[in-house]
Amino acid sequence: MTLPRLSPFLSELSAYRPSEGVHAATRALPLSANESPHTPLPGIAAAVASAGQDVNRYPDPECRDLTRVLAGQLGVDPDRIVVGAGSVALLQTLFQVVAGPGAEVVYGWRSFEVYPVLAGLAGVRSVQVPLAGEAHDLQAMADRITDATRLVIVCNPNNPTGTVVSHDDLTAFLARVPPTCLVALDEAYAEYVRDPRCADGLAVATDHPNVVVLRTFSKAYGLAALRVGYLVGDPRVVALLRRACLVYAVNSAAQTSAVAALGLRDALLERVESTVAERVRVRAALLARGERVPDSQANFLWLRLGARAAAFGAWCAEHGIAVRVFPGEGVRVSVGSPDDNDAFVRVAGGFRARSRAVAPSGA
Ligand SMILES: Cc1ncc(COP(=O)(O)O)c(C=O)c1O
Repeated sequence: MTLPRLSPFLSELSAYRPSEGVHAATRALPLSANESPHTPLPGIAAAVASAGQDVNRYPDPECRDLTRVLAGQLGVDPDRIVVGAGSVALLQTLFQVVAGPGAEVVYGWRSFEVYPVLAGLAGVRSVQVPLAGEAHDLQAMADRITDATRLVIVCNPNNPTGTVVSHDDLTAFLARVPPTCLVALDEAYAEYVRDPRCADGLAVATDHPNVVVLRTFSKAYGLAALRVGYLVGDPRVVALLRRACLVYAVNSAAQTSAVAALGLRDALLERVESTVAERVRVRAALLARGERVPDSQANFLWLRLGARAAAFGAWCAEHGIAVRVFPGEGVRVSVGSPDDNDAFVRVAGGFRARSRAVAPSGA
């Protein structure tokens, strides 16, 4: 039977698969998707319930309330903000608006797994620049920018390694990017950053009209299921992007809950603080056991396990813990509740002990 002609890229694409056990009947501890471990604050459940009264109506297509409240908190003009159905939806819009014959996107690799997928779907060629150690190699990225480059993405902190780009390095890099090339700073984990040298994308975007910043309510704000994120950039760029976004994409529950979450900022940031403390504690425990774990500024840790990554992931799954495995490279584990983190540290220790027993030389 003849099938319709679809993008040839689809044959190279494998569907996104959540880690083993996350959505199964006996749920594994979910440490694979960098979600908030906290249940929603009471105001959030109420906001979702109240939006439920109006589901026969379309949501506000311009997300005006949310944009206004965000603008107030971020200290930027509302016309610098566009809200989307998660920051991936905004990323997708960026790929769509830069696509065209010969268009290329430059990003560090390994980084967020969605970039090559969105690039391929939009027909934009991916130029992946290997990380230096565990961090972005901005010099090498700048070297790969050509006339064909329409978009550059800097994931800061980087998913999955958790490393950050400093303000000085970022501004030196931007000086080498032509003003006609769009730069997206993907700051999905910004709220977890404690390193004072880390670049503040919002400040950088203020004096670089070609820079846009992507943020999300899915991580620190704990609204992953509601799908809401935002982009901040030059008002002229934002006005064009608003035209390209899918209308009514951000549902009413997402809009009202995000407004409510912004009103609960202090309580939410307290939760973020506890995640940061857990990040430090879990990393110290892993380092003490001899694992290679770079300093992470996000809500996850990266274990550079190389050839042992797949076996480690399988071991965690066997012991009821879902982690994100990058075979041959490493494993990313989200920082969860203290109990979940203790369980992970125990299981990781068990894997090491077993490996030593199997290969006493420590190989
Ligand atoms: C670097 C990065 N950007 C964006 C996202 C997507 O977030 P959202 O839920 O807002 O689509 C993620 C989610 O894991 C991420 O890791």
